[in-house]
Amino acid sequence: MITLFDSQSHRDQVIALWKAVFGYESAHNEPTLVIDKKLAADDGLFFVALIANQVVGTIMAGYDGHRGWIYSAAVHPEHRKRGAGSLLVSQAERALTGRGCMKINLQIVAGNESVAAFYASPGYAVEQRLSMGKRIQENISS
Ligand SMILES: CC(C)(COP(=O)(O)OP(=O)(O)OC[C@H]1O[C@@H](n2cnc3c(N)ncnc32)[C@H](O)[C@@H]1OP(=O)(O)O)[C@@H](O)C(=O)NCCC(=O)NCCS
Repeated sequence: MITLFDSQSHRDQVIALWKAVFGYESAHNEPTLVIDKKLAADDGLFFVALIANQVVGTIMAGYDGHRGWIYSAAVHPEHRKRGAGSLLVSQAERALTGRGCMKINLQIVAGNESVAAFYASPGYAVEQRLSMGKRIQENISS
């Protein structure tokens, strides 16, 4: 079952899942900070996959009026290859489509290229782009 993230029910489980799946080296990706910032945005674009009321997967999406983005797609290793990841992507796509989004982007970090096959099946294609980013240090607690 895919549902909206609820802080009271899901927060601790999502933090544990993200730490297990992604590990974290950068302060701006620290899970509690990410969750707090996403809840402050209050955009209804943060979903979890539940099995027996336990969080087994997550996805965050973002829409800025121009592009939609998908972030933090993660499924617990014990629950992979059973469709949860695809359901999460579908839910994010539905939510973005409902907001008028015309194109969805996502980034895959170097070293994780094999996951492109997961996104190819629902229609994502690799595009020749240089991805650049800049951290806004004053908004990142250390
Ligand atoms: C990517 C991820 C979310 C997929 O979750 P999942 O629940 O296993 O995905 P699904 O079961 O819905 O898989 C859908 C299809 O993609 C394929 N697939 C899933 N994960 C894959 C991977 N890492 N590499 C290649 N193919 C993959 C599945 O085999 C399946 O193919 P099929 O429909 O032909 O059987 C999960 O592997 C994960 O959490 N990975 C680590 C975190 C990560 O890399 N996230 C993406 C960041 S961009």
